[in-house]
Amino acid sequence: MLNHWLEIIYLIASITFVGGLKLLGNPESARRGNLIAAFGMTLAIIGTLTLHGREVETLVYVLIFAAIAIGTVIGWLTAKKVQMTKMPELVSLFNGMGGACAALISLIEFEHNVGDGTKIGIILAGMIIGSVSFSGSMIAFAKLNGTLNKSIRIPGYNMINNLILVGLVVFATYMVMSGSESTTLAYVLFASALIYGILFVIPIGGADMPVVISLLNSFTGLAAAFGGFLYGNMVMLTGGILVGSAGTILTLAMCKAMNRPLSNVIFGAFGDGAATTGGGGGGVQGSVREVSVTDVAVLMNYSQRVVIVPGYGLAVAQAQHVIHELEELLESRGVQVKYAIHPVAGRMPGHMNVLLAESNVAYEKLVEMEDINPEFPQTDVVLVLGANDVVNPAAHNDPSSPIYGMPILDVENAKQVIVNKRSMKPGYAGIENELFFNPKTGMLFGDAKDAIQKVLNEIKNM
Ligand code: TAP
Repeated sequence: MLNHWLEIIYLIASITFVGGLKLLGNPESARRGNLIAAFGMTLAIIGTLTLHGREVETLVYVLIFAAIAIGTVIGWLTAKKVQMTKMPELVSLFNGMGGACAALISLIEFEHNVGDGTKIGIILAGMIIGSVSFSGSMIAFAKLNGTLNKSIRIPGYNMINNLILVGLVVFATYMVMSGSESTTLAYVLFASALIYGILFVIPIGGADMPVVISLLNSFTGLAAAFGGFLYGNMVMLTGGILVGSAGTILTLAMCKAMNRPLSNVIFGAFGDGAATTGGGGGGVQGSVREVSVTDVAVLMNYSQRVVIVPGYGLAVAQAQHVIHELEELLESRGVQVKYAIHPVAGRMPGHMNVLLAESNVAYEKLVEMEDINPEFPQTDVVLVLGANDVVNPAAHNDPSSPIYGMPILDVENAKQVIVNKRSMKPGYAGIENELFFNPKTGMLFGDAKDAIQKVLNEIKNM
C-alpha cells in the first residue's frame, strides 16, 4: 500500500517537472514554473524518505537530514548572493554537483550489483557520464570565474581525447562482459572518466563556454536517468530525461544562434583564439563620430520609432532600471519604443529577457531578432546599449571573421544608430566592429547607467 502512495507521489512530481518546464518557456510564467517543479521535487524527496518501506537505521536519517540542511543553506545563500553576470559559473558549479552525485551512486552500487550484467552496464554508464560532467563542470567553473583563464591545448589534443574516450568505453565493456567483481577496476574507471572530463573541457574557451556548460548539463541529466533506471525510480528517470533533453535542445539552439556546429565547439576551432586575441574583422578603417548626451536626448525625443538593443554591457552597468525609465518617458511623449533581443546577447541564454524583466519592462516590448530585423528600415533611432558582437556587420560581410555567418541584428538599416559603450574596445569575440565607423553611427561613450541617466535628465528638461 505504501508503495502505491509513493508511485502516486512520483507521478505527481513528474507532472510538476513537465508542467514547470513548460512554464519556464515564458518569462511571465517562469517563476511559477520553477516553484511548481521545486514543489514536486520536495514532495518526491519527502515521499521517498517516509514511504520507502524498508528498515533503516536512525543514523542514516540523521546523515540524510544533515546533508539536506547543509546543501539547502549553501544553495540558498549562493543563489541569493550571485550577480546575474556570474550566473553561468553558478550553473556550472551546481551542475557539477549533480554529476558527482550520479557518479558516487554508481560507485556505491557497483559492489551491490556485481554479477548482474545489465545493472553493471547501467552503473558504469552512469559513472562515466556523471564523472565527466563533474570534472568538466569544475573546469568550466574555474574558467568562467577567471581562476583558469587560458585554454590549454597540448598538440594533438583532439586525438588524445578521442583515444581516452574510446578507451573508457572499451574498459567499461570489458568489465561488463567479463563479469568483473573488482572494485579497484571500478575506481580506475571512475578516475579515468574524471581525467577525461578535465581534458575534454580544458581546450575549449571563449564564447563556447556556455555551450559546453549546457552540454555538460545534459550529461548530468543522462547520468541521473541511468540512476533512475537502476533503482526503477520513475521520478529520477523522468527528471533525468527532462534535464538531458532540455540541455541538448539548449546546446543545439545556442550553436544555431552562433552559427557554429556542435562538433566545432567540441573540437575547438573558436576557443580562446578568437575570444582573446581576435581574428578577422581587421582592416576596419575610418573615423568615429562622437555624440553628446544632448545630441542623443534631442534625437530620441523627436523620433517616432526607437529600438533599444541591449547587450552584455547593460548587465555590467546594471542599467536595466534606468533604461526602462527612459522607455516610459519616451512613450509618454508619443515615441514608440521596442527592445531588440538577440538570442545570444549577454552571457547566458535569456540574459537580456531576465534583466529587463527585473525592471518590469513589459514582455510585449521585447522583440525577437527575426521579427525586429525587417523593422529597422522604418526605425528612426537604434540605441545600442553595451552590445557589440550581436550588431557586428562582419557577420555578413567578412568571411575571415570568427563570427561570419552568425545571425545579427541589422541595426545599420535604421536611419540613425547611437552606440553606447565605454571605449573602442572589442566585445566578447575580440574583433573590431565596422558599425562604429558607419557615418550613420554616433558613439556615446561612458558607462551605460550613467550615460542613460544623463540622457533621461536631459529629455525631462525638454
Ligand atoms: P559583447 O560583444 O560582449 O559586447 C559588450 C560590450 O559592452 C563591450 O564591447 C563593452 O565595451 C560594453 N560594455 C561593457 N561594460 C559596459 C558598461 N558598463 N557600460 C557600457 N558598455 C559596456 O556583448 P553582446 O553584443 O551582448 O554579445 C554577446 C557575446 O557573448 C557574443 O559574442 C556571444 O556569442 C557571446 N556569448 C553569448 C552567450 C549567450 S548564451 N548569451 C553564450 C556564449 C557566448 P566597452 O568595454 O568599450 O565598454
